[in-house]
Amino acid sequence: MPATCLVTGAAGFIGSHLVDRLLSLGHRVIGIDNMLLGRKENLAGALRKQNFRFRELDANDVAGCLEFLKSERAGVQIVWHMAANSDIQAGGTNPDVDLNATFLTTYNVLKLMQTLGIGEIAFASSSAIYGLHDGLLHEDTGPLFPISTYGAMKLASEGVISAAVERFAKRGWIFRFPNVVGSRSTHGVIYDFVKKLKATSGELEVLGDGTQQKPYLHVSELIDAMVFAQGKAQERLNCYNIAPPTSSTTVRYIAEAVVRAVSPKAKIRYGAGSRGWVGDVPRFAYSIAKIQKLGWSPKMTSDEAVDLAIRENFETAK
Ligand SMILES: NC(=O)c1ccc[n+]([C@@H]2O[C@H](COP(=O)([O-])OP(=O)(O)OC[C@H]3O[C@@H](n4cnc5c(N)ncnc54)[C@H](O)[C@@H]3O)[C@@H](O)[C@H]2O)c1
Repeated sequence: MPATCLVTGAAGFIGSHLVDRLLSLGHRVIGIDNMLLGRKENLAGALRKQNFRFRELDANDVAGCLEFLKSERAGVQIVWHMAANSDIQAGGTNPDVDLNATFLTTYNVLKLMQTLGIGEIAFASSSAIYGLHDGLLHEDTGPLFPISTYGAMKLASEGVISAAVERFAKRGWIFRFPNVVGSRSTHGVIYDFVKKLKATSGELEVLGDGTQQKPYLHVSELIDAMVFAQGKAQERLNCYNIAPPTSSTTVRYIAEAVVRAVSPKAKIRYGAGSRGWVGDVPRFAYSIAKIQKLGWSPKMTSDEAVDLAIRENFETAK
């Protein structure tokens, strides 16, 4: 059934793809973004649609959001909370960024929901909440000790969503993303490598020794999974890992593939140690048995998602 959805972080990489998908499914969509990393051009298609409204607004500005939603007579049923600081390294030097953009946005979105009587929230969480663990990460893996402020603020966000479901909200969906890749990305390893090679075509500097190995999921599959699970999973609080089938990709693979696509003669210069930066989890592997049991399975392997994203990022960087 068509719903009215509020998407926070709507002009960002994942938020803008989500907006497009929700509109294509016939929903009415209200988007906000403070343009920390968002880009208006990501919403070029959506802004032509009648069912879409957008305002440059900070999710922490509860009064401003209330005024906007009231002026739109929005009657929002569900918030897709995508806004956060997505630059994990930035939070390493200034943790306030994660407190404000990653945790407080969740806290304030819940305040907005309670004030307006909005019952449902779907939340973009992250593998970063798990910290360092050997073996497959399951939704009930623990204890959870994140090693980045970003991961800590995502975990705290999960906590306040759980408490909100107990206090007033009807239902919550927590989606723990892996690394997500695709067109319109605003950050991340492929984006960084393409950008670096465009600037200095002779050499690609890699943070860490290239052995970091993680699952990469194409954004189209992430949106498929979220929309599917939000429609199907009907516990009060629903929590799912989303990832490609048990496969992962090394940073070395990505560096070599980007060089082949962008500047084939460039030399790759690796750094030392397996961690790209403070707070980087160098290796992890997800169990997706729970979402598969619900009925969703990914189609692309991690390497296939990376290869497709490199083509997409290279095309837009041309
Ligand atoms: N891309 C990934 O690999 C990945 C992995 C795990 C989790 N996530 C999560 O998915 C969500 C979307 O990430 P993304 O990759 O699209 O990053 P992104 O930076 O492109 O999108 C986040 C958007 O939120 C906006 N934003 C930040 N603070 C805000 C605020 N206070 N008010 C309003 N808008 C604000 C930014 O301007 C940006 O447009 C984030 O919550 C991120 O933490 C992403």
